[in-house]
Amino acid sequence: MAKEGKKKLIVGNWKMNLTVPEATILAERLKKEIVFVDGVETVVAPSFVSLYSVSETLADSAISVGAQDVFYEENGSYTGEVSAAMLRGLAKYCIVGHSERRIYFGESDRDVSQKVKALLTYDIKPIICIGETLREHSDGLSKVVAVSEAEAALRFVTKEDLENITFAYEPVWAIGSGKACHPDDAENVIQAVQKFIKALFGDKAADKIRILYGGSVNAENAKGFMKKNIDGFLVGGASLDHEEFTEIVKTTLKSS
Ligand code: 13P
Repeated sequence: MAKEGKKKLIVGNWKMNLTVPEATILAERLKKEIVFVDGVETVVAPSFVSLYSVSETLADSAISVGAQDVFYEENGSYTGEVSAAMLRGLAKYCIVGHSERRIYFGESDRDVSQKVKALLTYDIKPIICIGETLREHSDGLSKVVAVSEAEAALRFVTKEDLENITFAYEPVWAIGSGKACHPDDAENVIQAVQKFIKALFGDKAADKIRILYGGSVNAENAKGFMKKNIDGFLVGGASLDHEEFTEIVKTTLKSS
């Protein structure tokens, strides 16, 4: 169960899907179905090109908007990149360190720490992805990898920043595979990360951080995760279907 005062967070990562009109239509559908509730906050993260339209569509709605990535420099000759200064006002949250960025675009732990720093400077809340590959999983390294990625990401983070930080434990092998992690195993890794953060910042401060689970989450398996000490979900594929995503939000609400 999430601690008191800490809302559950459900984030839909739309990845490289949907044209601007398609993203806007999905946002309109979700806006009708997801209303303000006390225990849960819902976020959708469209591609950069759809951010403006989706954030206009969702203004004054119960759904917040997130970006999927950011570059850490403020401005300058970085063709193709988008800075935290540009995201301010459009995105309340921003995903960083997703395994797809680490694997396909060579993003390092150092990059992730710089991105977290840049986002905090512009009052955007980072959602930091951590999690092991299949090989690391088979080698029994799930906790070691998650904790070491968390440690690196927190390099420039102070105690005061913690309430704005969310981690998402996303085992790489569970992403898009239809094979979600067992809720017990996810809780185990999440507890190890919590323990590490407590050692670093103290119990009270560490309690403010939210840690989500991501990897093949759907409306059905969400129930099992919600029985565990998990603060919400980072949803990929299932977030592109408005009925399925709404169902995940409702399931989370029932158990919060
Ligand atoms: P899936 O839910 O499609 O497995 O993707 C998870 C993910 O990578 C969210 O960031």
